[in-house]
Amino acid sequence: MNLKGKKILLGISGGIAAYKCCELVRLYKKSGAEVKVTMTPSALNFVSPVTLSALSGNEVMINLFPEVDPNTSSTIETKTWHIYTGLWADIFVIAPATANTIAKIVHGISDNFLTSTVLSARSPVLISPAMDEDMYLNEATVRNVSALRELGYLVIEPESGELASGLSGVGRLPEAETIFQHTLNVLNGANRDLEGKKILITAGPTYEPIDDVRFIGNYSSGKMGFSLALAAMQRGADVKLVTGPVSLKTPRHVTRIDVNTAEEMFNAVKDNLKGNDIVIMSAAVADYKPKSVHKGKLKKSTGDNLAIETERTVDILEYAGKNNTGFKLIGFALETENEIEYALDKIKRKDLDMIVVNNPKVEGAGFKTDTNVITIIDKNGNKNEYPKMTKFEAAGKILDSIK
Ligand code: CTP
Repeated sequence: MNLKGKKILLGISGGIAAYKCCELVRLYKKSGAEVKVTMTPSALNFVSPVTLSALSGNEVMINLFPEVDPNTSSTIETKTWHIYTGLWADIFVIAPATANTIAKIVHGISDNFLTSTVLSARSPVLISPAMDEDMYLNEATVRNVSALRELGYLVIEPESGELASGLSGVGRLPEAETIFQHTLNVLNGANRDLEGKKILITAGPTYEPIDDVRFIGNYSSGKMGFSLALAAMQRGADVKLVTGPVSLKTPRHVTRIDVNTAEEMFNAVKDNLKGNDIVIMSAAVADYKPKSVHKGKLKKSTGDNLAIETERTVDILEYAGKNNTGFKLIGFALETENEIEYALDKIKRKDLDMIVVNNPKVEGAGFKTDTNVITIIDKNGNKNEYPKMTKFEAAGKILDSIK
């Protein structure tokens, strides 16, 4: 495994499992990576910075306000060391991440070198929680770990087994080899191969109003489109994300444009179409909208039925295909049968380079899940089927296929 030239920042917080990090640093170094280590003050109770600086070959960063000799090192870099360290890294791995450090990261608290550096890191941040089972399953921690994912951090699931408390359960830090493997996977998917590329992505559902309080919508969560935006940003792209109503946080460094209806999405796409290298439309746009919108709230009438007359919305993807200024155009499709046949027809009709098909009948695929099961089909009919994976991993496969 060659990590030559890769810059790995390892953050260690105060848990018993911190001792495993010595082996982890050794594995990173053996594979050719450059390694810097930061520790929280309580991590010092578990492992010595002397050992870690000897293994990494670099001074371990602990103090947010290090004593610097004003005669020799008073440059802006030394004064704002945490910022430059955050920008330096190709990946920031935090292992073990205690409940306390995770809670701080979720809330943007930056009271030590490690937590301050997380805020300025532009690289992927891979977090490996480790603690006692009761702490890990506490509702507060459960919420914080899920918030980490929503904020775009990558999380390694802790393992089950014997714990430091003598109890047994979930919360163990995986072995160094496992964390090393996760680091490799992220670095492989997170090289800066889209540096300088402009990418436009649509995501989420659209809401088509019936009256002032009701709409026709769908269950799309926007997770697939947001994962694509995050993955593309991490690979260096300049990303614009046009999204329907979703409750997701915007990935850092991504420009977000919020819309509600298909028409608003169409206008936002039209205004931002030129100059892109890649356009990916993962939004679940409503195909029909009410022909007229009732002012105020539509009252119940005496009859049993209510008929709402609808009309077709504009097909944004088709518009992009007809007005292609040289970008690669990728569409999505939800098919339950004859996927190749329908996909090829859609590719032709909408002038696409590639289509991503998901079958909502397959377990782990579809609107509300964090995972997806995708098939990628290009315009020559080449088909690649993928097993169930997280939407972030699926985003990586989609970006790989575009390249
Ligand atoms: N799309 C769009 N504008 C619309 C409708 C769909 O841009 N008004 C895009 C979606 O973002 C997606 C693709 O078109 O990329 C889906 O195509 P569509 O023909 O709507 O497919 P399905 O809804 O899967 O299929 P069907 O034809 O079976 O309704």
